[in-house]
Amino acid sequence: MAFPESFLEELANRNDIVDVVGGYVNFIKRSGSNQFGLCPFHGERTPSFSVHADKQIYYCFGCHKGGGVINFIMEIENLTFPDAVHFLASRAGMTVPDEGGNDEAIQRRARLLAANKEAARFYHNLLSTPLGHTAVDYINRRGISKEMVKTFGLGAAPDSWTALTDHLTRRGYSAEELLLAGLVRRSSKTGGVYDFFRDRLVFPVIDVRGNVIAFSGRILGDGEPKYLNTSDTPVYNKKRNLFGINLARKSPADHFLLVEGNVDVVSLHQAGFTSAIAPLGTALTTEQAQLLHRYKQEAILAFDADTAGQRATEASIKILEKTGIRVRVLRIPDGKDPDDFLKTRGPGAFQALLDQRETHIEYRLLSLRGAYDLERDPDRVAYLQEAQKLLAGLESDVELEVYGGRVAGQTGVSLESIKTGVKKFRDQKRKQQKRDFEKAGTRPTQAMQPENRALRYENAYSAIAEQGVLRLLLFDPTLYHNTLPLEPADFSAPFLGRAYEIIRGRIREGKENTASTLAPLFSSEEMGQIIHLLNQPENPADTKQALEDYIKKIQAEKRKRDPEANLLEIYKQ
Ligand code: GTP
Ligand code: MN
Repeated sequence: MAFPESFLEELANRNDIVDVVGGYVNFIKRSGSNQFGLCPFHGERTPSFSVHADKQIYYCFGCHKGGGVINFIMEIENLTFPDAVHFLASRAGMTVPDEGGNDEAIQRRARLLAANKEAARFYHNLLSTPLGHTAVDYINRRGISKEMVKTFGLGAAPDSWTALTDHLTRRGYSAEELLLAGLVRRSSKTGGVYDFFRDRLVFPVIDVRGNVIAFSGRILGDGEPKYLNTSDTPVYNKKRNLFGINLARKSPADHFLLVEGNVDVVSLHQAGFTSAIAPLGTALTTEQAQLLHRYKQEAILAFDADTAGQRATEASIKILEKTGIRVRVLRIPDGKDPDDFLKTRGPGAFQALLDQRETHIEYRLLSLRGAYDLERDPDRVAYLQEAQKLLAGLESDVELEVYGGRVAGQTGVSLESIKTGVKKFRDQKRKQQKRDFEKAGTRPTQAMQPENRALRYENAYSAIAEQGVLRLLLFDPTLYHNTLPLEPADFSAPFLGRAYEIIRGRIREGKENTASTLAPLFSSEEMGQIIHLLNQPENPADTKQALEDYIKKIQAEKRKRDPEANLLEIYKQ
């Protein structure tokens, strides 16, 4: 355990969740000791985000995220658990124990970050040696300036299996540490380790706090794979970071310019467009979108003009929209990426593109239009339907007026009848939302299914009982006398089984199970599940009986899954 539990309890006591969340969420209504507001983690118009003052937990009935005050800060500030603890400690004016001391996890993170920084320095310095010549040639061929090499800390991984390993080993890093940092791989043949990046142009990935957290290595010329990227490590989560965020967030622009490739980012910065960033070889994630929205009001998508780029644009619009950030799209002509475009047309032409950026509705309407021949009546009807559906998603009536007017002009249909069609789609959507909401209330097995597929329940019948066991043990740990006739493996849902194992273990050791002590042991989706099951009604009259009943149900469902056990049951009778 990274921090003493007494400290975590004190931290939670001194950071009242209502105050902390209140800094990010406007509470709109109150019911009992629950405060409700619009969820900061997913887009919504009716408040389903609740904070419970007595229990000191939050839970969103819409996206099912939940937890204690530490989980909330981790999620909203995009921080790791230790960083969130430091954040809250400084908010409450507390000193974090063991800082720079003997705490293992913190110490290890610091070591990995230091190893990464040293690796970045090693790669960068190599550019001024003969071993870096091919990389320097490549940098020149791509037209990357010396200044950008410095700004981004670019470097060269030498054509060697052990150069970095040797260098870092001499500086006292162990093979284990280098493996954890993703800087080396273990050879299955010799059992030794070898450098992961070899003969590549290296782009360090630097987070908002200035830590070197990962690397991206491009091949020098043609060949496969074009890029090697660090996989997730204890200090790096590729879903939560973007290449160039360290620089772009400080750019004076009020927008981020989102591009596909690392080279695009560097070229754009070189041409003065210093708000350029790129996701690291993955589709844009919700976490990345939230990170962007924390720093700027607008995201401009400037993906490659090929089909993959267009698909990525569509997908990214959906993700970005949910965070509430303004979304604009840049259309780069002639199938080029931003780097090609800058090289052939220059920064002035790129600025002109930027000035003509489209709203995501314009972009989608135009893409949609391309799929239909508006001269043909059936096509025109189909286009109108799809366009009205798009317009139904618009928040403001002014926008509806503008873009509806455009569709009217294209199709020769009056704006009034387009607005009527849009209203129909809006009503449909509202009704569907209402139906979903009601269904969720009356069909518990549906409502209890976690959003995250990995957490879904196969046997909802058993899962209800499994949740019941956890709920009772969390409410009243004394129900777990010395033992229960129930093992984690009896659970049908792996996550609930694991939660049982953890909670049971803590009860056995006489530890408390509160939101702040459980926070480091579960992800926020998992905490959301736990909070959700705690919020389900329970009959408190005879908890002992209720627990027995739940266990019986779990055992019965287990026997159904296991034919062998069934057979024994039959013999017993
Ligand atoms: P060039 O302009 O061709 O030098 O590259 P680029 O930096 O513009 O990258 P490109 O548009 O080809 O790809 C976009 C991003 O996808 C890259 O920056 C990488 O992060 C990622 N990527 C591309 N190719 C690979 C690959 O082979 N493997 C992995 N893991 N990621 C890749
Ligand atoms: Mn490119």
